[in-house]
Amino acid sequence: MPLIDWTERMNIGIEEIDVQHKKLVDIINQLHDSLKSNTFKEELKIIFTELIDYTKYHFSTEEKIMEEAGYEDLEPHKKQHQKFVNKLLRMKDRCYLGKEEISVELSSFLSSWMIGHILRSDKEYQEVVLASEWYKTHSKSA
Ligand SMILES: [Fe+2]
Ligand SMILES: [Fe+2]
Repeated sequence: MPLIDWTERMNIGIEEIDVQHKKLVDIINQLHDSLKSNTFKEELKIIFTELIDYTKYHFSTEEKIMEEAGYEDLEPHKKQHQKFVNKLLRMKDRCYLGKEEISVELSSFLSSWMIGHILRSDKEYQEVVLASEWYKTHSKSA
């Protein structure tokens, strides 16, 4: 059973963003499965690195969209992203140095942060972006 089940209410309605959120959820689910099944640690490191890279990629896409759509609360949103990336990087360092085992608590922290962020912070820009000129042009050309 996956840790996170994608539900309709997690959709933002901007295709590019929804596709990326689903992929992030997939990676967190994979990490969780790997933690449960005691597979060798290299696999965990690979998935964890993929999660960090894809999270950064997603945040930069999202920040660019918010900026182009003229979203006013971009800066505090960016700060939330940066804090989360820093936290992931610190966790990665600790795990790689052998100071900390990657545990099941990690995947539950990741899933609650991600779901909480999508449902609260990302939902906050939804209306502004969907009503913006950026979206009208973008959805026509897509
Ligand atoms: Fe997001
Ligand atoms: Fe976000």
